[in-house]
Amino acid sequence: MGGVDHDVLDLFPDSARIKGATLTLGGLTADELAAEFGTPLVVYCEETLRARARSLRAAVTGGHVAFGAKAFSNVAVLKLFREEGLGVDVASTGELAFARAAGFRGDEIIVHGNNKDAALLAEAGAEGATVVLDAPDEAELAAAAGVKRVLVRVTLGVDADTHEAIRTGHHGSKFGLPVTQARSLIEGALECGLDVLGLHVHIGSQLADFDAQAETIVRLASFAAGCRDSLGWVPKVADLGGGFGIRHNTDEHAPDAATLAAGAVETAQTAFREAGLPTPEIWLEPGRSLVGTAGVTLYRVGAVKRLPERTWVAVDGGMSDNPRPQLYEAVYTAVSATRADERAGEHVSIAGMHCESGDVLIDDVALPTPHRGDLLAVPATGAYTLAMASNYNGVTRPAAVLVGDGAARLIRTRETIADLLRAEV
Ligand SMILES: Cc1ncc(COP(=O)(O)O)c(C=O)c1O
Repeated sequence: MGGVDHDVLDLFPDSARIKGATLTLGGLTADELAAEFGTPLVVYCEETLRARARSLRAAVTGGHVAFGAKAFSNVAVLKLFREEGLGVDVASTGELAFARAAGFRGDEIIVHGNNKDAALLAEAGAEGATVVLDAPDEAELAAAAGVKRVLVRVTLGVDADTHEAIRTGHHGSKFGLPVTQARSLIEGALECGLDVLGLHVHIGSQLADFDAQAETIVRLASFAAGCRDSLGWVPKVADLGGGFGIRHNTDEHAPDAATLAAGAVETAQTAFREAGLPTPEIWLEPGRSLVGTAGVTLYRVGAVKRLPERTWVAVDGGMSDNPRPQLYEAVYTAVSATRADERAGEHVSIAGMHCESGDVLIDDVALPTPHRGDLLAVPATGAYTLAMASNYNGVTRPAAVLVGDGAARLIRTRETIADLLRAEV
């Protein structure tokens, strides 16, 4: 394993190996990938994407798994998940267009949004997608736009143990409606002639454990029983959203997503039975747990500054390709992809190349003595990275490739300066 611990390698995709000094992904060396596609480069492992999709599907037999496209909206990855029998959840006309380009149609698509515009509702209606109602007046708007099938998103006042920016099921959340308003929305939707399939909850992302999810499911069953009593309506579907966490560093804990998914199904079966209701079909919308660990970002090392306070190792990307350290205080780790056989004996900070002191990709990581020209690999960067990328400092967004069996396929071209200038008037 050279200088890279087994524990660190666990954060990488299934096909990652250390061969001598080099990290390989999908049978290709980091050097080969960087030479062909440039850096920064987000490398997705096909084997890992398919394995994660299969294990989640197997965990919800009789249910439905829709990929939360916001985690990485990419046509090739969406196609791959469609081949694996997944549906898709989209939250904008852009994501809907990506889903359609990947071949998703009609009820394979779930449309979200706390403020869906007229275009999104009209496209969802024309597509025959399932729309998750999320505002008091949205039933009328959806019906007028030709939407037929809906879920109603309810917030049940459960505080998930995650960063506050990605917590969504608490009282006062901008997502969903509290129980009384959600019940009125169901009533309104039924009056509009909509097929109200069921209920939706999503309490947050990167959930550290199952407790909040379990509590949500119990409250959901009790809310459903209230709906039966007051409206004579019973949900056929319980969409429990996404949220399963992944490990971004070796200190982070994340239970296995498939185990959690199976637990959610079991908890729902018990909770609905105890509430005297038929077991609803369980839908899940995982994003991060499907693509996060599958993606590794390769950066080229540039300036190395040894200061009395710390050693800075600057790379050719940063907050423009991965804003999660700034947004969520996300802690990443890295390995040298070109000196993997050397001992990781020097503690350094990985600086991004942007004009912000806060553009620090990793505050503290042990690496073999870094040199200009080395390649660094940052694991667990497949979710909410490229999807949230920006052009800050006029930087072009990176390319992405899909690797497997010794071959790489470009799935997102690197943006060019000409692309940026095209938007200028
Ligand atoms: C409604 C909904 N579903 C699914 C997801 C995907 O969540 P995750 O990537 O944490 O699995 C999100 C993300 O925030 C969401 O808001």
